Amino acid sequence: MAGLPWRLVERLADGQCHSGQALGDYLGVSRAAIWKMVQQLEAAGLPVTSVRGQGYHVEGGIDLLDADAIGATLSPLVASLLGGLQVLQQIDSTNSYLLKGDFGLGEVVLAEQQTAGRGRRGREWVSPLASNVYLSVRWHFSAGMASLEGLSLAVGVVIAEALESLGVQGVELKWPNDVWVQGRKLAGVLVEAGGDVSGECFAVVGVGINVKMPSNLDAAINQPWIDLAELGFSAGRNRLASELISGLVGLLANYEQVGLRVYAPRWEARNALKGRQVATQGAVALTGVVAGISPVGGLLIQTAAGVKEIVGGEVSVRASEA
Ligand code: BTN
Repeated sequence: MAGLPWRLVERLADGQCHSGQALGDYLGVSRAAIWKMVQQLEAAGLPVTSVRGQGYHVEGGIDLLDADAIGATLSPLVASLLGGLQVLQQIDSTNSYLLKGDFGLGEVVLAEQQTAGRGRRGREWVSPLASNVYLSVRWHFSAGMASLEGLSLAVGVVIAEALESLGVQGVELKWPNDVWVQGRKLAGVLVEAGGDVSGECFAVVGVGINVKMPSNLDAAINQPWIDLAELGFSAGRNRLASELISGLVGLLANYEQVGLRVYAPRWEARNALKGRQVATQGAVALTGVVAGISPVGGLLIQTAAGVKEIVGGEVSVRASEA
C-alpha cells in the first residue's frame, strides 16, 4: 500500500486555496506530481476541490487527529489505564490491526483512513480519509468470554453518552448496538473477542462514528445514515475521541465485575425500537412488538405466541411500520 502524501494533507488542512506551483515548491516536487498526489487523496475519500487557475483546497479545512491533543484531555486515571495511544494515517482496519498485533491491555488505535473497514455481519464500513472517527481498543479479561455477554450493547451506551456530553441530542440505540439519530445511523460497534470461554480472554472493541462523511460516498453506504456535521457538531474529532476513550476505558476496566446490569437501564432509555412493530430476518423470523432487552442483551419481542428472545449478532431487526 503506497503511503499517503501526508505533508500535502497537512498543508491543505487550513482550508485555503493553494496553487499547484506553491504546493510543488513546498514539497519539492513538480506540479504534475502534486496533481497525482491530489488524485491519491481523492481516491482515499478526501474531497479536494480543484479551482481552475487557482489551485486546490478542501472546503471547511481538515480537522486532523492528534494523539497529543487527545492524550492531554484524558484524566490521569484513564491515562494510567491505557497501554498506548496511536493515531495511524492509513490502515486496513483498526480492529484487524489490534487483533493481529502483539498488543497488551488498554491499547487504543485511531486511524485517519481504513482501506478495509469492517462492519458487523461481514459488511464493509465506509472509511474515507480524515473525515470520521475509526477507533479500536484492546482489553484483556480473566473471567472468560462468557463474562463479556452484552458488552457490545454497553459500548453503544458509552458512545451515546459521549455524544450527549458534547451536546448531540436525540441519540438512540437500535438493537444490538447501532447508534441512531433521526432514525438514521450515526455510529456502529464491532466487538471481536477471543480466548478462553471461562479463563483468560480478550476483546477488541471497534467504534466507527460518521463525523463529516463526504456526500459523494452516499451511494456506497447501503442504509440511511447521518453525520455529526449535519447535526451542527463543532467540538472536533480529537475531543470526541477523548470522550470515547474515557468512556470505553471506564466500561472495560469494570465490565467483568458489573456486567450489562449497570448499562441496561441506560440502554433501555435510548431504545429506538421500544414498543414498535418489528420483523426479524436471519436465523429466526419473527414479527412482534419490541418489549426491551434481556439480562444477557438479547432483544425481547412480544409475539402472538408470547415473548421471544433474539440473541446474537446474526439477526437484523427492521421496523415494519409504515
Ligand atoms: C457496524 O455497525 O456494522 C459496525 C461498524 C464498526 C466500524 C468500526 S471503525 C473502527 C473499527 N475497525 C473496523 O474495521 N471496524 C470498526
